[in-house]
Formats: sequence, C-alpha cells, structure tokens
Amino acid sequence: SWAHVRPAPPDPILGLNEAYLADTDKRKINLSVGAYRDNQGQPWVLPSVRRAEELRLQNEDRHHEYNPITGKNDFVRNAVALAYGEDLCAARHIAAAQSLSGTGALRVAAEWLHLYFKGNPVVYLPQPTWSNHPAIFHKAGLQTRTYRYFDTRTKGLDLKGMLEDLDHAEPMSIVLLHACAHNPTGVDPSRDEWGEILEVINHWQHLVVFDMAYQGFATGSVERDAWPVREFVRAGHQVMLAQSFAKNMGLYGQRVGCFSMICQSEEERGACESQLKKIIRAMYSSPPGFGSEIAGTILADSNLKAQWFKELEEMSGRINSMRMQLYTLLKDKHHLDWPHVKQQIGMFAYTGLGAGHCQKLAADYHIYLTLDGRISIAGLNDSNIEYVADSFAAVAKD
Ligand code: LMR
Repeated sequence: SWAHVRPAPPDPILGLNEAYLADTDKRKINLSVGAYRDNQGQPWVLPSVRRAEELRLQNEDRHHEYNPITGKNDFVRNAVALAYGEDLCAARHIAAAQSLSGTGALRVAAEWLHLYFKGNPVVYLPQPTWSNHPAIFHKAGLQTRTYRYFDTRTKGLDLKGMLEDLDHAEPMSIVLLHACAHNPTGVDPSRDEWGEILEVINHWQHLVVFDMAYQGFATGSVERDAWPVREFVRAGHQVMLAQSFAKNMGLYGQRVGCFSMICQSEEERGACESQLKKIIRAMYSSPPGFGSEIAGTILADSNLKAQWFKELEEMSGRINSMRMQLYTLLKDKHHLDWPHVKQQIGMFAYTGLGAGHCQKLAADYHIYLTLDGRISIAGLNDSNIEYVADSFAAVAKD
C-alpha cells in the first residue's frame, strides 16, 4: 500500500500557475511563472521560431529517429558558440550535451559533480535563488549552503557579504552563479563586482556552475549577457554551464538546453563526453528532437539568427517599458517610490512585498505572484498595469 505517502506541498512557482488557472474571476492576472507574454497577455511564438517550424515541415527528409545521447551535434556546437563566443570555442576544449532545458542541464551537472568532483561536494547557492535549485543538487546527493547575495536594506547586491561567504567556504567548493538576470531578485553584479567575485573564486579554486537561463533577456544582447561566463573562461576557469532556450526563444515546453564544461585537453574532453553519455543514458536515454531542430535551425542560419536577435530586443524592450511604467505609476499615482523596481534587470521585479501581501493579492485582487514578492514583468500589459499598481499600493499601505 501507499498509505504512508503524504501529499507534497505545491511547487512555489508552478503551483501558483495551477491556482491562477483554477481562478474564474475575469480580472485574474498571472505574474508568477517566468514566461513571456505579449501586450495582449498571450504567449508569443517568435516569428523566427515559426519560420524554422515551416522549414522543418518542408524538409522531405524529416523523421522521428532517436537523437544521439548527447543530442544533435550541430545544435550543440552552435549553442556552445552562442554562450562562449567563437574565439573561446576555438581556444578551449569544451565537452557538451544537449539537455532538457536549463533544469536538465543542472541535473546532469549535479550527477557529474556527485560522481567526479574531487573537492568539497557542497554547492553554494545565492540567498535567495531560484526555488528549484536546492532540490536539483540534493537529488544527486550533494549538500547545498547559501552565500549572501541580496541586501534587503538597499535592495541591491550584498557584495561584501557575498565575498566574505565565498572567502570562508571550504577551498574547492562548488559555487553556483546566475550568469545574468538573477532569478528572483533581478540584481546582477557590475563588471567590476564580477572581477572581485572572480578573484575570490580563483583564490580558493572553487568550481563555478553558471546557470544562464536568460541569455539575451537581461540586456537584449546575447553577447553582453554572456560576458560573465566568458570572463571566467578567459581567466582560465574550468566553468560548467547550464543553458536554456526556454525564455530567449520562447521554447518553454520543448525543453531545449545545453550542458557544457571546459576541459583541459582534447583527450580530457573526449573522456568527459563519454562519461556524460553514460549519465544521460541512464537518466533519460537521449533528448527530444523537435525543439532542438527549431533552435538549431535558427542558430545555423545567419538571417534567421539576425531576426531572432531583433525579437529578443523586442521582448526585453517590452519588459523594460512595463518595468518603467510600473515604477512611474506607483510613484506618481500612489506616492510609493520603489527605485529598485526600475534598477533591477531581466524578467522579474523583486518588489519587496511580503508573503502576507502576496496572499492578499491572490485572494482579494486575483493577482498571482510568488510569495517572495517576485513578479514576472512579462505578465503586465497596457490593459492590466494600472490595476496591478493600484492593487500593490492598496496592500502595501494596509
Ligand atoms: C521561473 O522562475 O518562473 C521559471 O524559471 C520557470 C520555472 O520553471 O520555475
């Protein structure tokens, strides 16, 4: 019998999505899950993605054969080039495998670290971090601890606390860094601050796992957003990297991502890739095909890629404009000055609203956001932003 099994609590992010879907009130607004919406509140299939889908349908040779264990070679090569840049790809030995989006890449990284990492098997996560991070590493038998990241007083980066915690971690620990558009805070280090972080990490020979779920979403430029990853690699660091094409190509449900790791020689790369295959084969055999064909087609075609870059700018531009409008409405209409909302970057604003406020917003105003006060700005549009600002002001002043 399974009578001993107790119900699990809903997922802090995806559980809210379910609550939103079950709400029958016409005013309901979903600011929970980080998924892009257009100004009509609808999911947006990028025109470059539509075009790649059409090209696939026109291809007479299309089939549904198994993918190689590490995924489609062309897709993987182009995904890695997008992250590290062509020059670094040519200068380094990079083992890589297609993954089930960013989560799957992190899960493979966790298995890898559990099996092969010779340092301290403890993963340091920023406080706060994406709510799924701890569980991904725990599932592979790794422990997690936190380093200070967000300063609740300034609502900015707690650089001093972060550097202290990384300095006091046991040498050769594992450090997870968000490459850009930190989730949930929207607070990223400046380039100078990244330099200080790099110095401490190098000094203690910590191993870095970059989670890059938002390349192109923070600034609209895939180059600028990948800068921290490239900077660590240029400094000689053997980073691991989890890439996702969920947000930047809007391929959420297709689970398209890539796991990669820098190796020291071609021989090492070959050995690592062969062991990655063993990990993946036992977990899910091989990755799905459709989404990676779409992403691979865009990355391989210079015209489609240029079009995609424009669409990325369009998405990040709309998010930015909503961010500014929310700030202005709160300030001008409600005399609430929340400068952090306009200073933060990426898909989210970390409003500072508490769990009680968030519960009240869901119960009384039908506005859904995670209980840490994070909102997915993409859920805002010209038709609902004023209602959201009014509701935030009402609960904040309560
Ligand atoms: C989020 O943080 O909302 C996204 O990364 C979606 C997810 O899977 O949680």
